[in-house]
Amino acid sequence: MKFSKLLSFLFLIFLFNNNAFAADGKKLFTKCKACHAVDAEKHKVGPHLVGIVGRKAGAAAGYKKYSKALKESGIVWDEANLDKWLTNPKGMYPGTKMIYPGLKKAEDRAAIIEYLKTK
Ligand code: HEC
Repeated sequence: MKFSKLLSFLFLIFLFNNNAFAADGKKLFTKCKACHAVDAEKHKVGPHLVGIVGRKAGAAAGYKKYSKALKESGIVWDEANLDKWLTNPKGMYPGTKMIYPGLKKAEDRAAIIEYLKTK
């Protein structure tokens, strides 16, 4: 009896944490907001990120400032590529125009990617 109570308690914590995850991503996205819109297909310094998970790299319509590196990368932004990119953009594509040092913490990257999936 006690054990099953503990289990349901842990399950509740799990549910709560999962919901809190995308919310964390939203907060973390303030680091990206100066250069990226995610609620409208509007370009800033960087291309808009609406629907970025599953989108072809370097392919946002109307964005003219892509680096050659990104335009010719031929990749799709799946979760693995986004994780690599957000760890160190210049490490992934040395010629990139995204001046951003990267997010050190794996859980921060995961939270941002989770948030971007909702967009
Ligand atoms: C100082 C401005 C700046 C900041 C801050 C910034 N970016 Fe970027 N981002 C850019 C630019 C410029 C590009 C285009 C890069 C290129 O063409 O090489 C880009 C490209 C991207 C791309 C590829 C888009 C595509 O269409 O292929 C993704 C994904 C991305 N950024 C995500 C992020 C996330 C997530 C953050 C926050 C953690 C962030 N960026 C922070 C400027 C920025």
